[in-house]
Amino acid sequence: MGIKIAPSILSADFAKLGEEVRKISDLGVDYIHIDVMDGNFVPNITIGPGVISAIRKHSNLPFDVHLMVKSPGDHIESFINAGADIITIHAEAEIHLERLIRKIKSYKNVNDTKKTIQVGTSIVPSTSPSALEYIIHELDIVLIMAVNPGFGGQEFIYSQLHKISVVKKMIQERNLKTQISVDGGVSTLNAADIIKAGADILVAGSAIFKTENMKKAVNDLKNPLL
Ligand code: DX5
Ligand code: ZN
Repeated sequence: MGIKIAPSILSADFAKLGEEVRKISDLGVDYIHIDVMDGNFVPNITIGPGVISAIRKHSNLPFDVHLMVKSPGDHIESFINAGADIITIHAEAEIHLERLIRKIKSYKNVNDTKKTIQVGTSIVPSTSPSALEYIIHELDIVLIMAVNPGFGGQEFIYSQLHKISVVKKMIQERNLKTQISVDGGVSTLNAADIIKAGADILVAGSAIFKTENMKKAVNDLKNPLL
């Protein structure tokens, strides 16, 4: 299985978001990554469920909703109803993480009621992978942040490469199918190192939307020069 690509629409042109989502969905990517920020867990404020439900009809790809919000449990239902396929919460934002993960997995996917919602947990650069030790077996995705969340276009923090390999080892030792997604500062220049460290999914905002040729950017991320 090759590497999967999840374009982050945070770097898309918000004035024509439906068109941007349509365009990117046709370029052989695997997910649409949607950054939800509340101005509280992170400094920025971005997208809410209303926008997600408006763009839902512009793509058949799974919507990977990255909740950078405090008290994520108060909001999951509205994001699921808006059309999320994957809900990712931050370990740092929830004390009763195990309970919330189980709750998210109990919801039906409104896009396909035969499926349940997939769940991800994200950790910021300063959080140790040991935060995942007692929950990783419940997760579909671990989202490793390689920047401090809040904004697109930041520089990749290279210490996170080691963290990716530690999480990969945790997954292999436990014989799990959990995928590792890496978010923040991912580019065609560091994609090979990130994949080598153990990533399954690359989230990329500016490396895709802020380029002249988005098709080439997606292909280069999928097949980076080693
Ligand atoms: C950062 C977000 C990222 C961001 C990535 O807080 O979670 O998904 O959009 O943007 P780039 O790829 O530009 O770093
Ligand atoms: Zn994100």
